Amino acid sequence: MLDSYESVSPTAILTSYPRIFTDIPYEKEIYDWVSKNCDSEIELNKLLAPEIEARYKLINKLIEKQNIKQILELAAGYTSRGLIYSKKGYKYVEMDLEEVSNNKKKLINELFEINDNLHVVSGNALNNEDYTKCEEYFDNKELVIINEGLLRYLTFEEKRKVGENIYNILKKYGGVWITCDVTPKKYLQKQNDQNPTLNNNINNITSRNDLNDRFENEEHIRSFIKKIGFNNIEIHKFYEVKDELKSFEMLGIDKDSCDDLLENGIVAILKI
Ligand SMILES: C[S@@+](CC[C@H](N)C(=O)[O-])C[C@H]1O[C@@H](n2cnc3c(N)ncnc32)[C@H](O)[C@@H]1O
Repeated sequence: MLDSYESVSPTAILTSYPRIFTDIPYEKEIYDWVSKNCDSEIELNKLLAPEIEARYKLINKLIEKQNIKQILELAAGYTSRGLIYSKKGYKYVEMDLEEVSNNKKKLINELFEINDNLHVVSGNALNNEDYTKCEEYFDNKELVIINEGLLRYLTFEEKRKVGENIYNILKKYGGVWITCDVTPKKYLQKQNDQNPTLNNNINNITSRNDLNDRFENEEHIRSFIKKIGFNNIEIHKFYEVKDELKSFEMLGIDKDSCDDLLENGIVAILKI
């Protein structure tokens, strides 16, 4: 029986699949491995590709603006980002729950050359002690902490716990938190218009997909993160990377068909 967080883990396959309809390196090899080695009932949906590609590319763009060369990615799932940035010389630590992190270690060992900058750690983003396991791989310098696709599955109390854990690490090392996971409710409504079966499909595998757990609007995000201790927030729209998205062409869909989603999806840079 999966614990309630582990019930979110199959969504890592849901987000891995659409990345094969993009030009992001390694994603096809990764998804091929995942499809052969991981069982899941989740229904795949390639029409998610533009939004998944947008958040991935926007987060990368914002990482590169920071001039910080150490990254902790929470709930990293089967993303290729750690492989790519560790090869570029970043110290990169991925943390995810046990099953996903074990699979990730196996797939990296089987498909790619291991490099000393990349570490995959099994841990729960709500447990303060699990961050200590990640810290041993970092120098005592600024960090970028990122997560895409985690907070939407957590209650506000659980989001606060993750936020506090991130705050404690950044207080110690300095740096920034970059996440698309504060995207407000309106986005979900646009997502439902675009992809009517998507959220029902997620609800079939996890009870952790509740509209009440979403931020109302930017004001709500600001007051929530301020209470944790983040006093500075910079917001970027997915739309900023529209011209870099290859999925429209690869799926043969109209480039303007996702404008509403790209306008409402956001990535926030949070500082103490
Ligand atoms: C939608 S997937 C996103 C994966 C990846 N970031 C991506 O964009 O493809 C959600 C991920 O959150 C992980 N997860 C869920 N609860 C978690 C927790 N409490 N701590 C760490 N990871 C968690 C799941 O195992 C899963 O890999």
